[in-house]
Amino acid sequence: MRILMASSEVYPFSKTGGLADVLGALPEALVKLGHEVLVVSPWYKTLKEATPLWIGDVEVPFDGGATACGVGTYEKNGVRYVFVGNSAFERDSIYGYDDDVKRFCLFTRAVPQVSARVGFVPDVVHAHDWHTGYLPMVLEHGWHMPDGFAHKPTVFTIHNAQYQGLSGIEETLYWLRLPTSLTDSYMNYFGYANAMQAALGFAWHVTTVSPTYAEEIKGPEFGYGLDGSFRHISNKLTGILNGIDTGIWNPETDPNLPQTYTAKRLDKKLENKRALCERFNLDPSKPLIGVVSRLVDQKGIDTVIEATSELLWQDWSLIVLGSGATSLENDLHALTAANPGRMASYIGYDEGLAHHIYAAADALAIPSRFEPCGLTQMIAMRYGTLPIARATGGLVDTIDHDRTGFLYEHDRPEGFLWASGVARGAYAAQDHWRYMMSEAMSEDFTWESSAQTYIDLYKSLG
Ligand code: ADP
Ligand code: GLC
Repeated sequence: MRILMASSEVYPFSKTGGLADVLGALPEALVKLGHEVLVVSPWYKTLKEATPLWIGDVEVPFDGGATACGVGTYEKNGVRYVFVGNSAFERDSIYGYDDDVKRFCLFTRAVPQVSARVGFVPDVVHAHDWHTGYLPMVLEHGWHMPDGFAHKPTVFTIHNAQYQGLSGIEETLYWLRLPTSLTDSYMNYFGYANAMQAALGFAWHVTTVSPTYAEEIKGPEFGYGLDGSFRHISNKLTGILNGIDTGIWNPETDPNLPQTYTAKRLDKKLENKRALCERFNLDPSKPLIGVVSRLVDQKGIDTVIEATSELLWQDWSLIVLGSGATSLENDLHALTAANPGRMASYIGYDEGLAHHIYAAADALAIPSRFEPCGLTQMIAMRYGTLPIARATGGLVDTIDHDRTGFLYEHDRPEGFLWASGVARGAYAAQDHWRYMMSEAMSEDFTWESSAQTYIDLYKSLG
């Protein structure tokens, strides 16, 4: 099959979170199954590890007229990439601007044009998250569609239902050059244009990234105002669990580690802990909990912050890598200063340090309020580091309590401390901890079976 994917982030070129990881790994898994994949993404000011080849510009129907966008091509491990160039993407960050919805409408509108430009006519079009939410609607109703694109089967994947992309209806239709007759269509969310809801209505099929989250979003707590829409489309909504790229996340070969290791040589894992503790001035004899996370409300890091003094009293040490909300960053700085030798924090985004923490820590704290899938628990398990996680979304679908990690229900410091206490007991009973480490490391988190599930889904639409 010829599969066209569109996303605002793709690892390793651009990344703020797990969406990028998925777009880095799933297309390669689909190629391994014998399919052709073109991934389309914005040509940001900085793209890591790629210098696309500019092959010219295309005229994109946009903003009542046409906007020129550059077409940059690249190929890696059998996956073809097209990067869409425009001054709208030449900024310091990927997101965070007042005109984000307009920027990603331009990107979305460019997808058929740039794909046609490189001669890729898809059998199925797969869009990800609100940034590309209007793609199914554009393919269904857009004017000036290149040959072979109109009415193509579409799949939309929700990676996070909290972010939906809101704008004015009239201006959005004008940007996308869609007829005003669509004003009262599925894009209309209480008088506003909602990119995610448009996708729910117009995509042929909708998936989210774990079976549990697919159920949770049908209720008010996790639906973020779209729970009614999720219930309404439940006959075309399914959960397909993410995997991880086990080539990149591999303790046996990871070039970011001071010492590589396998499940048979767990003594070598300890070398990584020693090195990390030395770098951050932590006592290596204490059991170590790590955190690798965006610092946003979703991730519940405030729970760990509130629980820190008791956590240290349980005899854990703590290291946090993250960036995001300034108030949380400040709290972490203050806690670190107050607990020398027992707590460390690194505020920022650092791939290499993330790898080192996954390998060095004994446990990884994931106190999420909601978690569509979550990749960090799978990465941690692969590195023999046991997750202590809230029982929500994909965390429930990937962690087996007291066998491959620890789960707790209550979104409170007490809930987290209960689980860290259970984990502390398991750590003290060394045999049980070792048994859990080897169980966690032998879990299969490869993309293979989920990639096949996507193929079966694409085929069922054709
Ligand atoms: P989300 O996409 O909601 O942030 P996921 O668990 O799906 O959560 O994916 C997070 C990804 O981002 C993982 O690859 C994780 O290692 C990475 N990550 C998060 N914060 C940082 C950071 N501060 N530095 C480096 N990597 C990070
Ligand atoms: C989102 C979710 C996360 C998921 C990732 C990849 O960022 O917050 O749970 O793992 O997308 O699907």
